[in-house]
Formats: sequence, C-alpha cells, structure tokens
Amino acid sequence: MGTSSVNRGSGRKASREARGTSVVILAAGVGKRMKSARPKVLHPLCGRPMVAWVVDQALALDPDRILLVVGHGAKEVERALAEAGQQDRVTLVLQEPQLGTGHALQCCIPALGQDPGRVVVLYGDMPLLRAESLAGLLRLYETGARGGAALLTACPDDPRGFGRILRGPEDDLHGDVHGIVEERDATAEEKAIPEVNLGVYCFDGAALLAALPRLESANEQGECYLTDVVGLLRGERRPVAALELEDPVEAIGVNTLAHLAEARRALQVRILERHMENGVYIEDPATTTIDHGVEIGPGTRVLPCTVIRSGVRIGSGCEVGPFTHLRAGTVLEDGAEIGNFTECKAARVGEHAKAKHLAYLGDATIGAGTNIGAGTIFANYDGVKKHASSVGEKAFIGSGTVVVAPNRIGDRATTGAGAVVTKNSDIPAGEVWVGVPARRLEKAASKAGSKVARARSAGRSRS
Ligand code: UD1
Ligand code: MG
Repeated sequence: MGTSSVNRGSGRKASREARGTSVVILAAGVGKRMKSARPKVLHPLCGRPMVAWVVDQALALDPDRILLVVGHGAKEVERALAEAGQQDRVTLVLQEPQLGTGHALQCCIPALGQDPGRVVVLYGDMPLLRAESLAGLLRLYETGARGGAALLTACPDDPRGFGRILRGPEDDLHGDVHGIVEERDATAEEKAIPEVNLGVYCFDGAALLAALPRLESANEQGECYLTDVVGLLRGERRPVAALELEDPVEAIGVNTLAHLAEARRALQVRILERHMENGVYIEDPATTTIDHGVEIGPGTRVLPCTVIRSGVRIGSGCEVGPFTHLRAGTVLEDGAEIGNFTECKAARVGEHAKAKHLAYLGDATIGAGTNIGAGTIFANYDGVKKHASSVGEKAFIGSGTVVVAPNRIGDRATTGAGAVVTKNSDIPAGEVWVGVPARRLEKAASKAGSKVARARSAGRSRS
C-alpha cells in the first residue's frame, strides 16, 4: 500500500450540502475486460477521458477534497487530468498493486486523516451519474443513514456483472440494505435479485475507517471488496439505506468496449439535447457527433453526418454539414457556412464566409464574406511542420485552388480554378492570380498569350 500526494486538494469553501465531505474516486484498476492496453478510465467519451466525467461529478458536490486512486497507468491518468484542467482540485493516491476496491480505499486511509467527515465513493467507470443523484444520495444519508452508509442502486434490464443488493427479510420497501453480493459469488437465487449496486456510496467516515482494516479477500476473485463494508456496518447495527435511481442510463457502468460505446451514445444524447435547448437546430441527432466542450450559438443549423470535436466554437446563424468535420481550434464566426466533405482544423472562418464543398481548411484564417470554392485545399503541412495561411475579406478562391502554406491572400483577391498558390506568394488585395504555379493574371495572360490561359483564369466557380 502506498500513497503519493501529487497535488493538494484546494479545500475550497464547500457548499452547504457537501461540507465535511471527502470524495474518493477509484480509478486504479486494469480494466481487464476492456482487452485494451489503455487504462480503462482513459478511454475517450465524447472528446474527453472517462475519468474526467467522473471528476466532474465530484466537483459538482464541491467537497472539501477529492482523492483519485490511481495505479494502472498512473502517470497517464495524471497527465489526462492536467489536460482536462482538473488537477488542482484532485489529490492522487497510488494503489500498487491493485488488490480490489476495498484495498483501494485502504490506500486512502492516510490521506483521509482522522476525521474525514462523510466519505463519498465513486467508481471511475460510472460516467453517467448525474449531479442531482449524488445530491440525493447525500440527502438520504443525512435523513436516513447517519453513522452508517447510503448507496445508489438501480434495477436495470440487464444486471450484467453488477453486485446484487441484499435486503433483510423483515424490511419493508424502503428497508435497510444488509449486504451486497458480487455476481461471481452469488447463488442462483441472489442472481435473480433485480436491484444492483451502482458503486456509489456515502459513508460515515469514522465507521468506514474502522471497517476497512477488517475486510477479507475470501471471494471468487481473491480481492478485497469495498462492498463487504456494507455487511460489516450492518453487523454493528449501523443504518444502511439505498436510493434507487429510475433512469437506467445513469447505471451504465463501463467494463467492456461495448459498454463504452453505449456510454458514449448516452452522453452524446445529453450533449445534443443541451445544444437543442439552446436553440441549435440539429436535423438528425442520430448521425451527429458533437463532443464535450463545443460552443454553438443559437440559430445555427447542424445537418446530418457531421462530426464536431472538442475545442470548436461556432457562432449564431451558421450552417454546418451535411458530412462536415470540424476539428479542435476551429472558430466559425456568425453566419459562416461549412458544407459537405469539408474539414476544418484550427481554422478561423469569418462572418458569412463559406466553404461549401470538398475542402480542407487547415490552420487557415478566412476573412468575412470570403468564398472558398469547391475542392480548395490549404496545404498546411510540409512533411515536417504545420504552417498557417490567411485569406482577407470578400476574397474569391476558385474551385480546386491549392494554397501552399505559409501564405497570405489579400482582401477581395481572386484565384482562378485549379490555381496552385505556392508558399509565401502573399497575393496583394484585389489582385487576380491564376495557373500553376499561380501568377498575377495580367502577367500570366501576356506570357502565355493564349486565349486558353485567359479562359482558364476566368474560370471562377461561384458556389
Ligand atoms: C463494482 C462493484 C459492484 C458494482 C459495480 C458497479 C466491488 C467489489 N464491486 O464491480 O458491486 O455493481 O462496481 O459498477 O466493488 N478499482 C481500483 N482498484 C482496484 C480495483 C478496482 O481502483 O484494485 C477501480 C476500477 O478502476 C474501477 C472501479 O474501481 O473504476 C470498479 O472496479 P471494477 O473492476 O470495474 O468493479 P466491477 O466488477 O464493475
Ligand atoms: Mg466496473
């Protein structure tokens, strides 16, 4: 057992509901059933690692401290936390080796100190719990389980590996829980119990600290189970109360890649619903991917088969899609339109600018009112480094133009269809450039002296 405090929890002013509360998140497990080299809690869900969603659940309680138990892939988890901007509020506790959920809590004993208050435990593979449910758990603890424990349960259609809730025969509907049995250790009769343990608890800290050293590993996995604490508390005649959640979506626990896909879909539905509540028109939610951390203004239309990744900002009255891919760092100003088979990466697209078909806008800044013709490519990568390009306002980039970065194209400038604007051409405002490599129209026309060249250069494609 070991502890390492990588970051101190800030101990910031706690909300009234969560005062005297410590939250422990268990995230040290290998996640064998994922069959993946990546630590389970780092699998991505809507643009951020699974653990970031769970840390958000803890943050919503504004507790005195948050302990995150890490082990398998500890360094990577720490890095992911920093990338999610959550490291300041979280203290890492190392569990090495990982001997079960009860052992994970044992590793927290030194960090919890002598008087931890209430201890809320969350599992890092339960990303869909709502803050309201956790608030309900704390209320239940206060009203019906002080000195013992309160926990969340559900009756999902498929109990797939969850622990089953055992209630005493004398109990009425809301009676005390007297134990939890893991599916692997359950009898056929116990497996038939529909009520399952969600792995979300609020313990009396002192009672928990007293029970943890008494946990044993006499079970099918030979692991030290946190769930056995419930039986120990009942043995001391302490209260254990359960709050059953009605929404089965909250009970999605991720133990396999199939569960991960299920969780992603459910989180995606929540994200899309939030945007629609804000006045964003999403024509076909079933084929639309919008990650966590995307801002979209009201009146914007998102058309089918569109993927919008984290770190994208979209103004009001824009149109995106169908079949559009917007990647991190992209900003669409009000009224911009990005259409089918167009990818934007770290692109800034000005007000009412358009790129409607088959284009790649990588590291490109596009001025207001500019039209990017079909098939335009901003060639931002020279094989070693990425470079940026810009186009001014009300410019007209002809179909099939390749702009090799770095480059600057001035306001109201025009490129002819198929022009290859070699790097650092820096086309001045108002000029027309055509050809391969692109040259100022007058020059190209007089040199070539041909009608064909003039005709080609005039081949604008309004779209
Ligand atoms: C656990 C519960 C089960 C409950 C289910 C809800 C136990 C013994 N069982 O089962 O009753 O129905 O969650 O999802 O608690 N972890 C550690 N260190 C370890 C082992 C696990 O930190 O040594 C972490 C994992 O990273 C994971 C969480 O604890 O985030 C739960 O572990 P997991 O192996 O998924 O437990 P389940 O079998 O799902
Ligand atoms: Mg699990």
